[in-house]
Amino acid sequence: MVIEAFDKVKEIHEAIEATIIDNKEALEAFRIQYLGTKNTIKPLFGEIRNIPNERKKEYGQLVNEVKQAAEAKFNAAQNALTAQAANQVEAIDLTAPAEALELGSRHPVSLVLNHMIEIFDRLGFTVAEDSEIEDDWHNFTALNTPEDHPARDMQDTYYIMNDPSRLLRTHTSSVQSHVMMNQEPPIRIIAPGRVYRNETISSRAHCQFHQVEGLYIAEKVSFADLRQTIYYFAKEMFGATKIRMRPSFFPFTEPSAEVDVWWGCETETDKRITKGTGWLEILGCGMVDPAVLKNCGIDTDKYSGFAFGMGVERIAMLKYQIDDIRLLFENDVRFLRQFKKTAIF
Ligand code: PHE
Repeated sequence: MVIEAFDKVKEIHEAIEATIIDNKEALEAFRIQYLGTKNTIKPLFGEIRNIPNERKKEYGQLVNEVKQAAEAKFNAAQNALTAQAANQVEAIDLTAPAEALELGSRHPVSLVLNHMIEIFDRLGFTVAEDSEIEDDWHNFTALNTPEDHPARDMQDTYYIMNDPSRLLRTHTSSVQSHVMMNQEPPIRIIAPGRVYRNETISSRAHCQFHQVEGLYIAEKVSFADLRQTIYYFAKEMFGATKIRMRPSFFPFTEPSAEVDVWWGCETETDKRITKGTGWLEILGCGMVDPAVLKNCGIDTDKYSGFAFGMGVERIAMLKYQIDDIRLLFENDVRFLRQFKKTAIF
């Protein structure tokens, strides 16, 4: 009986020494078996009451040694496994080439819009914004286009159902009215934003698109200032060397003009894009009609100004040679991917 108890202690001690702990699972199994709440060492302590007095001390020491051996083995194995895991991280080959990260891309309309904002920023124009749901007064009446004015037919309007005094703005010129009502000259703003027209969708027209409006009002603003501003823009945006202005009509500007930039007429593409003329139409503009200034409370004896408005999609189509405006609204990733840059990180 006594011999058996001593043999049992020895057997467990040997088993502990013989255990191989080379992974986390083995470590946990070892902990449960020898250090857990129902471990195999505990009952050995209970056995002490069956040991004759003269050998109790010796027995107790041996069992304690078994317990210490189990703890020491557990701690050593745990440390070794932790160190091993750390070494594995270091073992990564830092010289291996990185995997190329796939970046998203900006939409071509955003690219062009940001470029425009940046160009006009250099001339001191700040960005103004207002709502897309507009009242009739800001979109038309303030801009010298009263009800029944034939010029309203130039822009097929979406009115809000049950409230014909409200509409989806047909142009960003509506922002002009807000700014002039709220701000004293000098005024130097551009107003980028989305506009809506009840148009049949085709490769050249859409019922929603973006415009950038420009408005400059100060003392002694002349047509020459307008021309130079547009020329600077055309040069920065298209690298254009020449612009030309053709007389036009808008109810809110007088005189009014449409601006063409010289694109060139050498290659087949040049001919296709410019319809054989070498010139590209990019915007409408003019000197703000004094009636508009008066409507918005600006002193016409003191101030004059110019305004211009251009279609962002049209400029994106010219810049990237996109031949169907619908591509800009469909979000087909095969199209959008072409505007993507690839980078390593
Ligand atoms: N609002 C006009 C349009 O949408 C463009 C324009 C703006 C013309 C400002 C002149 C001055 O067609």
